[in-house]
Amino acid sequence: MSLPKTVKKCLFPVAGYGTRFLPATKSMPKEMLPIVNKPLIQYAAEEAMEAGVTKMGFITGRGKRAIADYFDNNYELEHEIAGSKKAENLNDINNVMDSGQFIFMRQREMLGLGHAILTGEPIIGNEPFAVILADDLCVAPRDGSDTPRAMAQLIELYNQYQCCIVAIEEVPKSDTGSYGIISGEEIEPGIYDVSDMIEKPKPEDAPTNMAIIGRYVLTPQIFDYLRQTKPGANGEVQITDALKQVAREERVIAVKFAGQRFDCGSIPGFVEATNYFYEHEFKAQ
Ligand code: G1P
Repeated sequence: MSLPKTVKKCLFPVAGYGTRFLPATKSMPKEMLPIVNKPLIQYAAEEAMEAGVTKMGFITGRGKRAIADYFDNNYELEHEIAGSKKAENLNDINNVMDSGQFIFMRQREMLGLGHAILTGEPIIGNEPFAVILADDLCVAPRDGSDTPRAMAQLIELYNQYQCCIVAIEEVPKSDTGSYGIISGEEIEPGIYDVSDMIEKPKPEDAPTNMAIIGRYVLTPQIFDYLRQTKPGANGEVQITDALKQVAREERVIAVKFAGQRFDCGSIPGFVEATNYFYEHEFKAQ
């Protein structure tokens, strides 16, 4: 049976603790932290929706029920504000909710990003799929073009190459220990045929400064690779290690996507994103 030609499903691994944002994340998921008035997970779902995704799978954990509630009706609240201007504040999230299906699965143990993705196999089945890490917040380029956000760019490349695709950006060499780092041959401007990948290398061990950011398109073969992948950096099953094997045996393409990415898993990146959205989106409304 041949694979569907394009990507209609997306996994959102959202089981992490968000310890960098304690105490805020003590009793709420880090993905519900708002950039101005919209939670990170909504930006992620909107980016997937823009890319044509209609099935959104959330790999959640204990203490993350607020995410499932967020993609559901809240009749009491809606009744209270019905007909008032305030009801318009729900337009965007209602639009997301109407655009697809939302599926929630629990990752019982925190064994790493690779393990979270493998947990989502029953949602995905035998199809290519997207993965979005909501704490990497991506915006479209502000160059007057109608270039979409990163995920739509990745899916377009998937449609062309029909192989695993990762988004990359250059980071300061001193930061390589926070990322998966790739090396490879540039086959078109900004597009690389990946030959090697390493998860969170020290700067002196990093082959390049090209870091994977939280956007992937994966073929379903990745699940077999993940089953074979032993725990790596931090004792966790790393998607980077599974993809490195795919790069050796099949093909992985890395792309310097157009647009900007904010590291909302860190406080400086979160503040930067807040200022950006306040300036460019909120005030402009
Ligand atoms: C994960 C991946 C890493 C990637 C990063 C992007 O790391 O393991 O390869 O570069 O996301 O944000 P984490 O940030 O979950 O430690």
